[in-house]
Amino acid sequence: MPDCAPRRPRLLSPITLRGVTARNRIMVSPMDQYCAVDGHVTDWHFAHLAKFAMGGAGLVFVESAKVERRGLSSVADAGVWKDEHVPGLGGIAGFLKQQGAVAGIQLGHAGRKAGVQRPWEGFGPLDRRRPVDGQEHWEVVGPSALPALDGWPVPRALTKAEIADVVAAWGAAARRAHDAGFDAIEIHGAHGYLIHQFLSPAANRRGDRYGGSFANRIRFALEVAEAVRAHWPDDKPLFFRASAEDEAGWTLDDTIALARALHGRGVDAIDCSSGGIGVRSPTADVRARQPGFQVPYASRLRAATGITAIAVGLILTPAQAERIVADGHADIVALAREFLADPNWPVRAARELGTEPLEMLPPSYRWWLARRAAVLQQDASAPAAAASDVVQRTTGGSFA
Ligand SMILES: Cc1cc2nc3c(=O)[nH]c(=O)nc-3n(C[C@H](O)[C@H](O)[C@H](O)COP(=O)(O)O)c2cc1C
Repeated sequence: MPDCAPRRPRLLSPITLRGVTARNRIMVSPMDQYCAVDGHVTDWHFAHLAKFAMGGAGLVFVESAKVERRGLSSVADAGVWKDEHVPGLGGIAGFLKQQGAVAGIQLGHAGRKAGVQRPWEGFGPLDRRRPVDGQEHWEVVGPSALPALDGWPVPRALTKAEIADVVAAWGAAARRAHDAGFDAIEIHGAHGYLIHQFLSPAANRRGDRYGGSFANRIRFALEVAEAVRAHWPDDKPLFFRASAEDEAGWTLDDTIALARALHGRGVDAIDCSSGGIGVRSPTADVRARQPGFQVPYASRLRAATGITAIAVGLILTPAQAERIVADGHADIVALAREFLADPNWPVRAARELGTEPLEMLPPSYRWWLARRAAVLQQDASAPAAAASDVVQRTTGGSFA
């Protein structure tokens, strides 16, 4: 007998990493909202992230939360550098999980790209002669005294003892993420920020064990991964976002070698972005105009290493996303701007991929929409039966 059961789209099938299962393979990519206050998340963050979980996303990531105040990109980035940040983050994590999403948080440090204006205020370096939003400036540090771009602040090169402190800050941030209730962490190792600065000879000219050879340049990333793992339960997954290729000579082969080393230190998935070491924003890059432009990185990394791969970058339509995961290019797709345009994108995916869209929604939406659909579909011959059948199918009868 041929199997006539409808095939569940791969995009909408669950994925398990360590002890955590996501209900589907749709991830909300971290998106800085530039509206935190002294690192504290606000009602905006809650509302911004809550709607994605309510809209059916499998994994929802809080923006790059900084592990040190010195690591702030803008003054209004989220932070996780002190215990006082935990309650606000905990409220978000709790709600995301209550809505059935995996609650994730990205941990980051801007390094030499610290101290910038919000994108819509210019995205350039801050005028350090004046306080910003009434707050004091913070020191710009990096692997070497090389600015991110002409006219940007020259960072002070971290000493070896300070590197150990920054690594420890990453570990402490992971512990706080656990205390807040998150179930997944992503280390931000991409886009020209501190970890990427250590990886790149364009930003790292150190003569000690953190610079020079490939093995030395990846040392900081590996130590960060070890520190995070040491404070992060074994049953919770750890992701790493890499710039799979950049403008300054970092190659996909380098990323593949790095991914293998990270995997050996307990990193479970590589999120394959690109660029950022010599440009303000990777999304402004000319290459970033082609739908799915970074998918080949995930695909080749996954094929070469067998490590769980996340594809990101101009993934727009459900059919495109389904092809990426069904054809084995990636295990998870991450979307950012498309979620800003449509927080219920997973509902759209279910509808366009031929499964029941209302299943993606919370019962208090689902029941009403199912009833409306039933009323609209009513057939003059059996109106009551049609209505109750649709409500039954879409709610499992549990919300009658
Ligand atoms: C408003 C906004 C904020 C972002 N903040 C972050 C961030 O905190 N961390 C990060 O790794 N990427 C950040 N990104 C990049 C996105 O996560 C994503 O990689 C990029 O936008 C490409 O995906 P898209 O084409 O689906 O938007 C941000 C993007 C946007 C639009």
